Amino acid sequence: MSSTIYFPPSLQRFEPKRMVFSTWVDHLPFAYDLVGVIRPKLTVELGVYNGLSFFTFCQAMVEFNVDGVAYAVDCWEGDAHTESYDDSIYQDVATHARDHYRGIAYLLKMYFNDALQHFSDESIELLHIDGLHTYDAVKEDFSNWYPKVKPGGIILFHDVMARIKDFGVWKFFDELMASEPEIFRFDHGFGLGVLRKPGGQSMESPLLDAMFTGTPEEQHNLKQLYVHASHFLEARRQASKFKAMNAGSGSKGGQGKSQ
Ligand SMILES: C[S@@+](CC[C@H](N)C(=O)[O-])C[C@H]1O[C@@H](n2cnc3c(N)ncnc32)[C@H](O)[C@@H]1O
Repeated sequence: MSSTIYFPPSLQRFEPKRMVFSTWVDHLPFAYDLVGVIRPKLTVELGVYNGLSFFTFCQAMVEFNVDGVAYAVDCWEGDAHTESYDDSIYQDVATHARDHYRGIAYLLKMYFNDALQHFSDESIELLHIDGLHTYDAVKEDFSNWYPKVKPGGIILFHDVMARIKDFGVWKFFDELMASEPEIFRFDHGFGLGVLRKPGGQSMESPLLDAMFTGTPEEQHNLKQLYVHASHFLEARRQASKFKAMNAGSGSKGGQGKSQ
């Protein structure tokens, strides 16, 4: 990263097509850029809920012309942290998948452990673990799904900074950080952990280099870049909402002056 200026595509052109409430919002620009770099043929998300992270992966696949598929695994019942919710969440996700990502997005409405049988060992290139956030649950999800990840594949963990209630992803991720050679943590928002499974072909990119082999200063700069990228995205969203509101009120009788 030191010899290259990294100007991520998310800053240049990313307009999220799916925007729903989720604490994942702080990591959308990174998720978008990551898909553009690793171009995963097979993505699996464990824990989808209303699909904010999942559809960002899908959108990036389309916009970077990635030839692959993405599986969304969730019982769509909720858990101890999200609390239970009704079927309208699943119906909404299914409709969005059908309308925008036919042939790319596949929904597996089932428990994570039941979905395991559908994936071959060492096949997944991008795995996102975002189910129940207790220490035991994330450890179980990681242990069960790690063999399914291709060497060199990327595993994301959401909520690695959340120290509320009985959340324990932070503790499990701290343990991984002490033992895994290629691992990185974004600290903003609720935190996002990034782990590259050892092996596979090495892939050069300013993003991966900064995360996994960057100096402390380069890693710090990368973290800052994505803090700014998420603020920038939010500011742009607010600006376009404001513009749309003004345009709307303008058409109802010319009172659309900015305030
Ligand atoms: C934190 S939410 C996912 C958030 C989502 N990634 C986003 O972008 O906002 C966790 C989801 O995991 C699901 N879940 C938790 N444990 C599960 C399990 N063992 N099997 C299937 N789904 C599970 C819940 O139903 C819930 O919808």
